[in-house]
Parts: sequence; C-alpha cells; structure tokens
Amino acid sequence: MEKIVIEGGTRLEGEVRVSGAKNAVLPIMAACILNEGVNTFTNVPDLSDVRTMIKLLKILGAEVEYENEKLKIDSTNIDNWEAPYDLVKTMRASVLVLGPLTARFRKSRVSLPGGCAIGERPIDQHIKGLEILGAKTKLEEGYVETSAKVLKGGVIPFDVSTVTGTENIMLSASISEGETVLLNAACEPEVVDLANVLIKMGAKIEGAGTDIITIEGVKKLNPIKDYEIMPDRIEAGTLMIAASLNESDLTIKNCKFEHLGNLAGKLIQAGVEIKRDNGSIRVKGSKEITSTDISTLPYPGFPTDMQAQMMTLMCLCQGMSIITENIFPQRFMHTSELRRMGADIKIVGNSAVVRGVREISGAPIMASDLRASASLVLAGLAAKGKTEVLRVYHLDRGYEQLDKKLEAVGAKIWREEY
Ligand code: EPZ
Repeated sequence: MEKIVIEGGTRLEGEVRVSGAKNAVLPIMAACILNEGVNTFTNVPDLSDVRTMIKLLKILGAEVEYENEKLKIDSTNIDNWEAPYDLVKTMRASVLVLGPLTARFRKSRVSLPGGCAIGERPIDQHIKGLEILGAKTKLEEGYVETSAKVLKGGVIPFDVSTVTGTENIMLSASISEGETVLLNAACEPEVVDLANVLIKMGAKIEGAGTDIITIEGVKKLNPIKDYEIMPDRIEAGTLMIAASLNESDLTIKNCKFEHLGNLAGKLIQAGVEIKRDNGSIRVKGSKEITSTDISTLPYPGFPTDMQAQMMTLMCLCQGMSIITENIFPQRFMHTSELRRMGADIKIVGNSAVVRGVREISGAPIMASDLRASASLVLAGLAAKGKTEVLRVYHLDRGYEQLDKKLEAVGAKIWREEY
C-alpha cells in the first residue's frame, strides 16, 4: 500500500493545471450504453474511479481503450445487464448504469451501492424515477432488479436534490417514449455536461442546470466523437485551498470560475486574494486568514465535496468558524485526524465548531474517503514537520497525481510504500 509523505511549511508558487471532472466523466461513460457505436472523449482524467467504470463497461460487453486522457468506448456489443457487487461496492457511481441498462434492455440487475465513509447512500429516488417511467423494480440479495415492457415518459418529483438520481433518470428518459419532466432536479455543472453529451448524441433535453429538466424521448441515440470532458471544479477548489496556505501564490489553469462562485466568495471573505483570468484563477494566501461560517448545500451552494478541504483552512485561521454539513451529515471522518495534528474541532450534530490555532504539527494520519484524504494532504502542507497520509488509494479515486502537481509548484511531497 502507498502513503504520501509531506514536509510541511513550504510556500507554493507557480502554475498548476486542473484535470477533467470525475463526476462528469462517470455518468458520460454510462451514457454510451444508450447507443451502439464508437464514442470518443478527450480530457479524461486518469483516476481509479474511471478505471473502475472502464472495468464495469467491459463486463457489460463494451470494448474500451484509454490512453493519455483519450477514451474510446465501443458500445455496439454490450449484451450483459448485470453490474456485480464486487465492483459496485468499490464505487457508488456504478449505480449510474441502472438507468441506461433498463432503457436499453428493458431490464437490469445492479448491486446496491451500500454505505460508505461519508454516510448513508440511498438510491430510493433513482428507483422512484424508474418506476414512474414504467419499470418494475425488486430488491433481492443486495441487488436491485428492474424490468419494463416499455419505458414511457412521466413527471418525476424528486424528494431531494440528487445528482446521480437526476442523471440516472435523464439517461433512461432520453430513449423512453414521450415527455419526461424532472422536478427538483440537481443543478450541478456535471449534470449539464451530461446533458450536453446526450444532446450531441441526439437526445432532446431542455433545462439542464435548472431544477426543472424536460426530456422528449427519441427512438435511438448516436455515438459521440471527440467530446472534451469539463474541468474538475472540486480539484480546482482543492488547489485554491492549497494556494491559501503558507502565503502561497498559484495560478490554477483550465478551470471555470463560474463553477466556483460560492467557494471563491468564502475564500475572499476569509482574506484570500482571488483574481479571475479567462480559463484560470490566480489565488494568493495571506498571513491574516480569518474565520468564516460554511453551510453545504446543493449547487450553486457551498459544495459538500469542498467541506473537508475548507475545514483544514479554517483550522489555521484566526477566530471560530461553524461548518454545517447538510448533504451528508456524517461527513466528518477527517476531523479526528486533523485533531491529531493539533486542530481544535468539536462536532455538534451535523456541525463542526472549528477554533483556529496558530500551528498544527505533522503526524501519521489515516485517509478514510476521497475528500477527507485531500483535506489531510492540505493539512500536511501547512503542518510543522513531517506528515504521513496512509491509505492514499482514497485520494487516487478522484485526483489525478495531486501530489505530483503540488510537488511541481514547490511542495516537499512524495510517495512511499508501506
Ligand atoms: C454525487 O453523489 C457526487 N458523486 C458526490 O461526490 C457528491 O458529494 C454528491 O453528488 C453531492 O453533491 C458523483 O457525482 C459520482 P446525491 P450522489 O444523490 O449523487 C440523498 C465525490 O467526493 N439521496 O446528490 O450519490 C443522499 O443521501 C463524491 O466526488 C437520497 O436520499 O449524491 C444525500 O443526502 C462524494 N436518496 C443527498 O440526497 C437518493 O435516492 C444528495 O445525494 C439519492 C440521494
């Protein structure tokens, strides 16, 4: 197993490039199930979650090639509609094949994703949407099975704003008969990227990016060529936090400022200097970072995927901040590790009360989930002395060589086997 070792306290300076978005490419890969042909994509990040989705598509019968951020998916011979537990248990996003398989084969058998370190991960809204489209569903032996004579459009009122729930139903409704209207749909940019791909494949979709999405079903979709995956706004946000530490100064390239408004606003409020440039953001930390309160919300609110990283910054600022997690109330696995470094954090319900300290010290710490591991790497950058982040396979699920990118702008960071 690998760990990341960091000698903290170094000021970062220079340019760093953001990779393609994990949470955009995963549903887009699932969308290829809806057509029968060769689909090609660029700016595809080399992440373990992408490799897991490649494995799953190959199990379903697709031919997939991936090299140098270029991905080719030939969906012509997909003939299997079952997603096995041993694969789904490693990546919840595998549930994104449920809708497309049901739409293509009128049946599917997909393992339930189960919980994870950030808490309960139900899929009741996904199932509700498919049932409204006419699918029969059954939960058996940890699998959800769907079957449908035909999928007909309908009105789907989501009880909660769910990103993959919205994506799953948008995928299946694209080739269902008639009109489907999603109410309380997720507005995340990754939903918009998926809709852009589906529209280029021939789907008729309006309203993506708003909470009401209308889909007019079409008979078939065509393969897509050379689609460029959008930049990863959460990686960009993570790098913005890195630039806020140790009075660093980073120019973050290949990112969309419009996807980061809420985070940028909070960082500016805390005293971080942020300048937007077309396609990049310049971020300069300062000595006087002050506390600010955070409350995670669906897009365009403060992203839950940035909560752990922001907490690391708040641990080192002047004053007290209250960080409230409204999406995944248990998403605080990182706090116990930050405390071991000397952070002052108290959990009260679904909030963390963080009192800034002058310094945290390096320590051996344990990653528990993707964004927690990012927050621990950031803590190591700021800590006095040496930090070892264990179980970095969590980090590699969603960041393409983050340690190498940080090393290139001055961080003393490397990997070791243990
Ligand atoms: C997506 O997960 C992202 N993953 C997550 O990113 C992200 O944290 C999350 O959206 C919220 O933004 C991908 O896109 C692959 P949800 P998803 O359905 O779709 C409840 C990362 O670090 N809910 O939007 O699984 C759920 O419990 C990952 O990159 C139901 O109750 O999240 C949660 O409280 C972590 N029933 C809320 O909705 C359902 O059927 C939002 O969950 C579905 C969800």
